[in-house]
Amino acid sequence: MTSDIRAIIARRLKDAGLDNAQAEARFICEAASDHADAEIMATRRISREPLSHILGTQPFWTLDLKITSDVLTPRADTETLVEQALKAIPEKDGDYAIVDLGTGSGAILLALLSERSSATGLGIDSSRSALDIANANAARNNLASHARFDLGNWADDLGDESFDLAVSNPPYIATDVLARLEPEVRDYEPHLALDGGVDGLDAYRILISELFRILVPGGDALVEIGFDQSEAVQALFERAGFVNVSMTRDLAGNPRVVSGHKAAKR
Ligand SMILES: C[S@@+](CC[C@H](N)C(=O)[O-])C[C@H]1O[C@@H](n2cnc3c(N)ncnc32)[C@H](O)[C@@H]1O
Repeated sequence: MTSDIRAIIARRLKDAGLDNAQAEARFICEAASDHADAEIMATRRISREPLSHILGTQPFWTLDLKITSDVLTPRADTETLVEQALKAIPEKDGDYAIVDLGTGSGAILLALLSERSSATGLGIDSSRSALDIANANAARNNLASHARFDLGNWADDLGDESFDLAVSNPPYIATDVLARLEPEVRDYEPHLALDGGVDGLDAYRILISELFRILVPGGDALVEIGFDQSEAVQALFERAGFVNVSMTRDLAGNPRVVSGHKAAKR
């Protein structure tokens, strides 16, 4: 596609008030088959459909993920959780079992498995259509032999002391905040992936004691959090029995991950 067409698309996006008009025009022109196709994509974007839905893909970590309106578009902030979780996973060979509760596109689990070839992973989600996307993403990134995805309500179907590492990025936005978010999120992303109840903490109240139950002694749990949820979530970790409970900030300096360790038996 010519630079003239790219400039026309960028101008349309900019005039519509989109911040990243130049970069988005470039992505659209790379993905479009011709000028007419690029114009259709630009019109969808101007109606505030997320770019990931229009392109059908989103980069995350080193992976290229298939994305539809059935899953949350993985955020760059979530790479903080991946970075922290990798510190807990040994680099040497040997059995190592990871579970990702609320796996969505499979982003977190697949990023971890891409870095640790001897680990195996299970992703759980209560959305059947999300699991279809997660399976497609495992295949697309050559990780299908290490990853399994099952339908479930958090850890309900999982046995005690079954995993070395448990991760989760649950829905954590307070219901009334959700209504005020930008249209890309509010109108296009699945509310099941976002809505954390009145104070945003509903999922953590169920999840954190379950994370403790399903971990082997010596195992680790990490969850993503909203910027103002660190104290409440750390308290839930401590109440569940975790030790070494700590918080990690994202690149913007906001609290983003809470982690805890399940002490080994002595
Ligand atoms: C914030 S999204 C995270 C998706 C993905 N892990 C990521 O980080 O991009 C939360 C996910 O939790 C799933 N979920 C919500 N309630 C659930 C439940 N009761 N049991 C299992 N998964 C659930 C949603 O379908 C959604 O995929």
